[in-house]
Amino acid sequence: MKVIAINGSPRMDNGNTALILNPFLEGMKEAGADVELFFARKLNVAPCNGDMSCWFKNPGVCGQKDDMQMLLPKLADADVVVWASPVYYSGITGPLKNIMDRQLPIHVLGQGGMKKQKAVLVSTCSAWELSTFDPLLLHINAVYSRPDGGSEFAAALLRPMAEGMSEMIKAGETGLVEGIFQAAKDAGRQFVKDGRVSKETQAKISHALMPRDAYYKAAEAMVEQIKKSVKG
Ligand SMILES: Cc1cc2nc3c(=O)[nH]c(=O)nc-3n(C[C@H](O)[C@H](O)[C@H](O)COP(=O)(O)O)c2cc1C
Repeated sequence: MKVIAINGSPRMDNGNTALILNPFLEGMKEAGADVELFFARKLNVAPCNGDMSCWFKNPGVCGQKDDMQMLLPKLADADVVVWASPVYYSGITGPLKNIMDRQLPIHVLGQGGMKKQKAVLVSTCSAWELSTFDPLLLHINAVYSRPDGGSEFAAALLRPMAEGMSEMIKAGETGLVEGIFQAAKDAGRQFVKDGRVSKETQAKISHALMPRDAYYKAAEAMVEQIKKSVKG
């Protein structure tokens, strides 16, 4: 199983998204998958210029020359694409969207024969509510329900309250969060074995760390503390 994962967080390996993505990929590797991880921030990928030359003038060839030339054959050949992103204004990050858009040369209408792929979304957000991820779920589902058929949005690993989670780690309160990373690793193994992640495992990754009101109160207090420390 060839897996391409792209982490769209500008914080890359130091971010909350990596805290879920990395054990997931570890689990996939342990189960025998061939995994390649890229960081959108490190890649030089311009936004799509929309000239449609990859469909009409030179079908399958993008006129823009940047890191997408390296990435496109890998995306075309992957069995699984893992889109990893923090929620930014109810969407994925801009650099990750640029990469998604620049796949157009491998999705040329009527060309057929496109490899059937599975997509996985790994996402984190600061809000408490799991519904914060709804726009991203709708988006990825729409992308992978293309009329050429066969591709599938197969799993989502969603971690709300992610800023709270990283604060707990910094404070050494790891008891509540360790289960999350173990579940992310289990999810990777499950995905390679069964092509899906069980509802129980998904719930362990997403579970509420504390009641909603307590979370937002703690968040307010944290913001005040940060403001004070910045003022010196
Ligand atoms: C520009 C920007 C927009 C954001 N928009 C949202 C949002 O709409 N909803 C939300 O819950 N969190 C939002 N967040 C918080 C991030 O999703 C959250 O902190 C995430 O875990 C960061 O992941 P990372 O550390 O991997 O970058 C936003 C953060 C930034 C910087």
